[in-house]
This record gives sequence, C-alpha cells and structure tokens, in this order.
Amino acid sequence: MDLASVISNGIDDRSAKGIAAAIGRLVSSGELQPGNRLPTVRELSRALGVSPTTVSEAWQTLALVGAIDARGRQGTFVRQPTGPGSPRRYRRVTEGPGHFALDLSTGTPDPALLPDLGPVIARVSGQALTSSYLDQPVLPALDERLRAGWPFRPEELTVVDGAMDALDRVAQVIVRLGDRVVVEHPAFPPVLDLLEQLGAVTIGVDVDDEGMVPEQLAAALDQRPVAVFCQPRAHNPTGVTMSRRRAKVLADLLQHHDARPIVVEDDHSGDIASGKLVSFGQRLPARTVHVRSYSKSHGPDLRLAAVGGAGDVITAVANRRLLGPGWSSRILQAVLLEMLDDPATLDAVAAARDEYAARRSAITSVLDTHGVPFTGTDGINLWMRVRDERSALLTLAAQGVGAAPGEPFQVRDDDPHIRVTVGLVPTTEQRLAGRLAEAANLQPNRSGQR
Ligand SMILES: Cc1ncc(COP(=O)(O)O)c(C=O)c1O
Repeated sequence: MDLASVISNGIDDRSAKGIAAAIGRLVSSGELQPGNRLPTVRELSRALGVSPTTVSEAWQTLALVGAIDARGRQGTFVRQPTGPGSPRRYRRVTEGPGHFALDLSTGTPDPALLPDLGPVIARVSGQALTSSYLDQPVLPALDERLRAGWPFRPEELTVVDGAMDALDRVAQVIVRLGDRVVVEHPAFPPVLDLLEQLGAVTIGVDVDDEGMVPEQLAAALDQRPVAVFCQPRAHNPTGVTMSRRRAKVLADLLQHHDARPIVVEDDHSGDIASGKLVSFGQRLPARTVHVRSYSKSHGPDLRLAAVGGAGDVITAVANRRLLGPGWSSRILQAVLLEMLDDPATLDAVAAARDEYAARRSAITSVLDTHGVPFTGTDGINLWMRVRDERSALLTLAAQGVGAAPGEPFQVRDDDPHIRVTVGLVPTTEQRLAGRLAEAANLQPNRSGQR
C-alpha cells in the first residue's frame, strides 16, 4: 500500500488538526518510519478529498512540533523522534565512587558560606502572599527589584525554579529537532544532555581566557544556529569570565550575521563571581535571554532564578508554565526579595565572593609553581589539564578526594581534564594543591586498564 493510502486509512477526522493527529499516531505506532517521505500536499489532498490548504496546515502543525521535516523540492520527511530524557553526561559527573573525605566533584557552593535564611524567613512568614491562582506569577515588588538590577532592559521577565529550569524551558521554546545550537566547549553537562534530548545538533566553540573564540563563533554562525548558549562569567567548568573587549567583538558578530540566533546567557554564579557581568542584552535586547540564578549566592534550595529579555521567548515560557506549576513559590520569592537588600545577606554574599577568590588563588598559585595547566580566574570550579583523566581521578580518590571527570563537559574530543570545585577547600588546607599537581602529572596506566 502506498503511503497516501496508509495515511488516508488512518484518518477519521479530515480537518487539519485531525490529519496532523493521525500522522502523529502513525509515527508512534511505527507505520510511518523516520526518514519516510510523505506524500505531497497535492497527492494527499486528492486522496483525502480535502483542500490543499487543509493538508498544508496539518504539515505546518507537524513541522512546528518537530515531527516532520520539509526539505523543499526533495519533499517532506518523517523525523527521528527524540527518546526519553537521559542525563547521560550529568550522571557521569556525579557517579564517582562517592563517600570521599573531601568531595570536590560537586560544583556546589560551600553551605558554610551561604547567607542565613532564618531571620529572613521569620520576617516574611507573616505576609499573605497568594490570594488567588490568578495573581501575577512574579510578586510585583520582586519583578520591579529584579528589573532594576538587570544588566539590560528586559522586554519581559519571570521567575522560575533555578537556572536549569530556565534553560530547559527556554530550550523547549526555541530549539526543535535537528536545529543547530552553539555551545561553549567545554560546557555544563546537563545543558548538553538537554539539547541532545531535544534532538539539537551542538556546535562547540572554544573558550579562551576572555570568553568564546570569535573566529570559531563566526564559523559556527555560518551554520545558521537557532541559539547560542553561553555563560558570561565564572564559566563552569573553565572559570573564565568574559572580558568587556571580547564581549564587544562577539556582539558585533552576533548583531551583523544574518543567522540571528537567540543568545541564552546563564549567569549561574550571580554575585559570588568576582568578575563584572557583561551581557549581550546590552546590544541585542530583543534576541537575548538572560538567566540569573540565586543558587550559588543565596542558596541552592531557594530553587529560584530569574529569566528576562526577549519578550516572545519569555512570554512563551511563562504561558507554558501556567499549564504546569503556574508560579514559583511566592513564599520563596518573598524571601529572595527580602534578601536582595538585606544588609546581613549582602555582607554574607560579599564575604563568600572574597573567600571563594582566596580559596581559588591559594590553590592556583601552587599549581603554577608546578607548571600544571589550568584555566580561568573566577567562581568555584577549576578546570585542570591532566595527562590522564582516569589515573588522576583514581589517585585523588585513593587519597579521599573526589573530582569530576572532564569528558562529560567536552563537546568534542580534547586533552584530558578534570574539574575540581576548589571553592569548597578552605585556605587552611595546605596539602590539596600538591596532590592535585601530582595527579595532573600522572602518566596513563600502561597496563591496559584505562
Ligand atoms: C553553568 C550552570 N548552569 C546552571 C546551573 C544550575 O543552577 P540552578 O541551581 O539555578 O538550577 C549550574 C549549577 O551548578 C551551573 O553550573
């Protein structure tokens, strides 16, 4: 049976919606396979006895959800469906032997350096915050406060449950199956998992000590990506903060290239980063989505991040969220609002920032004397080049020290690295830097056990 007949047999409702739904069912049941060429609009409209406009509308709906791929004269094809989400890379970062005396694999802030939530919670606990399900998702006073501190004037702004929630929701709005997306190389593993799950093709752009390498971004833009995902400061894992000078060069490229991707900035470290925040939103406000997490500065369990910028993207995120959780806890929003101007919190965040910087340089100064290559100057993570990833991790583990393997962060094959969350190491700890240097210099185990 030809495909036009298979399709017309599977259709009971001949509206555009009905045709799209029937094709969706045929794909799910396997009667239509990825790669199958669908009949032309004309053929199918004839077979179904409907107008070509109706079939075109059905095709548009299917293309929008990434079920089919229109390739001009070659025809329209069934696309490969994406599988259930698998945090493959993310799991690899966290799957080490565990139970380390000193676990530096986590990328998390030091709980001892987080501001005390207690007094703030006591102050907000008496407030009546949710009177109706129809209230604004963001407390109006928080909205105003966040906009006042935003690195550019956002067209829209909302609050979600952490930076990863923001990246997930934004990616679902702007990335479709088969789309190209620029990411930094190396990148944060859950973001790579997320993009893979959406069926995106990632293009890695190297990060040097000032940010993304302009020549590589220019070449990547020629591949017409729909989005560029980046971290403007305290980049995880490299510790790089983008310089103002580099931001200008990259913004010129982004502004003048006709690919016009959406730039998604993940400011995951917020105020514990020492470097000044530069945002592409200052130049491209309608094409930038900026994410600001409060996890590392105010506490991961506040589970709050703000996302603001390109109005169409943020509105789509907020609208979709209304059909799910609706809003992020207004109690936690009130806690964050209170903390943003609370003198004790401001002092605690500033002290944490200084302490992380001191901890980092206590270690990097020793690595320097041993000639160990590492990158960056900012944030809680250190990206250290090693001769052999596995030998380095095993040696550290034998000494009770956990570190993250570099491979899950890498978009393409590269020199072996490990990521060490040096922000968790007090400056009084003298031996760690020497151990890291020793681990970095270990040769691969030649016995065949890699
Ligand atoms: C680069 C990056 N993005 C996002 C996150 C997640 O942040 P949040 O806790 O706000 O979801 C992290 C956490 O370590 C991160 O390093």
